Amino acid sequence: QISEAEVALFSVSSYACQRRTTLDNHNSNLTDALSLLAENAELNNEDGRGVAFRRAAALMKALPTQVISMSQLRGLPCLGEHSLRVIKDVLENGVSSEVESTKQSKRYKALKILTGIFGVGAKTADRWIREGIYNLEQLRHSGQTLNRAQKSGLEHYDDLNEPVTKAEADAIGEIVQKAVDSVLTGSQVALTGGFRRGKLTGHDVDFLITHPEEGKEVGLMPKVVAWLESRGFLLYQKTTRNSYLESKDGPARPASNMDRFERCFSIFKLTKGKEQESTQPEEQNDLKTKDVLRPHMQVDTDQQLCELSKNYQMEAASHKIWRAVRVDLVVSPISQFAFAVLGWTGSKLFERELRRWAGHEKNMSLSSHALFDNTQNKYLRATSEEEIFAYLGLEYIPPSERNA
Ligand code: CTP
Ligand code: MN
Ligand code: MN
Ligand code: MN
Repeated sequence: QISEAEVALFSVSSYACQRRTTLDNHNSNLTDALSLLAENAELNNEDGRGVAFRRAAALMKALPTQVISMSQLRGLPCLGEHSLRVIKDVLENGVSSEVESTKQSKRYKALKILTGIFGVGAKTADRWIREGIYNLEQLRHSGQTLNRAQKSGLEHYDDLNEPVTKAEADAIGEIVQKAVDSVLTGSQVALTGGFRRGKLTGHDVDFLITHPEEGKEVGLMPKVVAWLESRGFLLYQKTTRNSYLESKDGPARPASNMDRFERCFSIFKLTKGKEQESTQPEEQNDLKTKDVLRPHMQVDTDQQLCELSKNYQMEAASHKIWRAVRVDLVVSPISQFAFAVLGWTGSKLFERELRRWAGHEKNMSLSSHALFDNTQNKYLRATSEEEIFAYLGLEYIPPSERNA
């Protein structure tokens, strides 16, 4: 038993954007539990609950040491009744009963599997579940109409649920840089998202593209996509023009030069190993069933067949010389680049907290395009992330410490 006096109390700011959150998490037992409940809430379209659990998890990630007693948490912000109950359960019993029963639930498992398909969100998954579809096998046999993204997502399901490594992100970065250089010299590519925050793996790779001369970036995305497509680098792509329109008096530019943030959600075909230099990805080695299911093999039972099929799939996977990787490409004009970099570096909660801070504490509106001061009724220009933090009256937090 630890006495009151021996207990180390923590002092933590209430907004995640005021805190330095590295990847060095001393309370992963607690943050894993809270994150799972956040995810479950989000999968059930309970956004308010989701944010509450995300904030609680982020607070625990920011603590400098491992929590051992509930009394250490006294006076801390962001911890609601529900989150405290979960934390108490984990501290006392090693696990949270709510987390365990959620993990076991048929609905949670199905939501995880179905939203694991690129292009499938919580609403679609919910509809399918109500129609009795709980897994990929049932989905494949259901006759459901899938859109282009979902078809691609289902086809590359295993690859897309396999974490992307930093080495793979760098290899894709080289390809994107080459594409961008080829279509418009002087263009710049920045790695954003989790990899910019120093994560070693991610669910995708995020890039921001710009050109130092304002306006030169216009029309860049379709050219980059065409370059990549013609060389067989894309398994799927959907390019969307951004609908962002500037209002009021800034960033003051003529209508012809309004925002042209364009985005491309894509699936890259990444050749494994060092072959990336070749601009033409090679075709997959055709592994024939006979390589694994040799003629002398007797298949008597379903279990044997299942085992053989599993071996076959593992063999096939190990022979495959390429993999599918989710890649996000965004083009920003140089005048908005600092805001775009800040907005696309994440984490998602850090971004949400920055915008909440701006609105609630500074009467400003922050987006990935601009910062508007509602008091002065004007846009605040910036060419670096440091300037944006300064406008917001926040200490500068480098990307590696935005892992809230
Ligand atoms: N983002 C965004 N608009 C979207 C999707 C993402 O502005 N429609 C931003 C998010 O706010 C985040 C960044 O892009 O800051 C990266 O998002 P994402 O790739 O989903 O997350 P990561 O932090 O990169 O994590 P992961 O490693 O799982 O990819
Ligand atoms: Mn530490
Ligand atoms: Mn990402
Ligand atoms: Mn992304």
